[in-house]
Amino acid sequence: MPPASRYKAVCACAGRPASRSRVEALAAGPCPYDSCVPDFDPRTPSIARVYDYLLGGKDNFVADREAGDRVVAAFPAVVEAARENRQFLARAVTWVANQGVGQFIDLGCGMPTAPNTHETAQAVNRGARVAYVDNDEVVVSHLRAMGAKGSPGVTVVVGDVGNPDAILGDVFAGLDPAAPTCLMMGLLLHFYEPGTAVSLLARYCAALAPGSYVLISMAHGNGAEGERWFSAYSAGPAPARNYSVAEIAALFDGTELVPPGVVDARQWHPSWSELPALPFRTGQAICGVGRISS
Ligand SMILES: C[S@@+](CC[C@H](N)C(=O)[O-])C[C@H]1O[C@@H](n2cnc3c(N)ncnc32)[C@H](O)[C@@H]1O
Repeated sequence: MPPASRYKAVCACAGRPASRSRVEALAAGPCPYDSCVPDFDPRTPSIARVYDYLLGGKDNFVADREAGDRVVAAFPAVVEAARENRQFLARAVTWVANQGVGQFIDLGCGMPTAPNTHETAQAVNRGARVAYVDNDEVVVSHLRAMGAKGSPGVTVVVGDVGNPDAILGDVFAGLDPAAPTCLMMGLLLHFYEPGTAVSLLARYCAALAPGSYVLISMAHGNGAEGERWFSAYSAGPAPARNYSVAEIAALFDGTELVPPGVVDARQWHPSWSELPALPFRTGQAICGVGRISS
């Protein structure tokens, strides 16, 4: 294994004191050359880079691909489930934007992909605004590079979604707090225990205007293979908890669930009143959209 220093991003800006933490260095602002990624260890798989690998992206390293391959070996359909999640997000953002909501907070947004949340929302409403939040160095670097190429209405926030009070100010810097907003938590809350997930959601929802929406998707495994999926994943990028469908549905308590409710990502089509039967699979993304009325 080559030394980690071989992978350090070298950038002409070189202006970030080495003593800063990685999040401080990222928060210091965009690199004028768009090529600076503060120190990170590519030998440790990251949530964002493993997900990028599963989606067929190019922003990942050997450790991410090896960790991703172990997850695929335990649960081959994870690749389909990841794609289905992205397709759900695109359908749900389109639907929410069509309700007249023009602001989106994409917490734990992941690497830029196709389509990105702002592209989907702006296809409905050209003036839609999106605040992307992530704490992964590579994600933030790519988002900033995307922003530098010209993405009107986009704000990039570096921060820990587990600390809402530390990030909400920056999140709303580019949004109107009085206007309805869609809070997105795609494949994120399974990194938290239920009590923490509920309190995080409550804190974020309290910051949203009436008429806002919350959009959640979470990985869910069935039976022994589903458990192997979560074990393989938890041994790689980060510990993840296998929520039951009932536990995921409970996260929407206090919201008005948008039909068809909390379902397999393949079944979330707002015009579908009858859900199609799906062939049994040992795991999938479970998702839903709720409206916050007060
Ligand atoms: C599995 S990816 C999902 C990406 C996207 N939301 C989606 O559904 O396609 C989870 C993302 O959440 C980010 N993430 C995980 N924990 C986080 C935290 N505490 N603060 C900020 N971002 C976090 C990861 O870096 C990663 O980009």
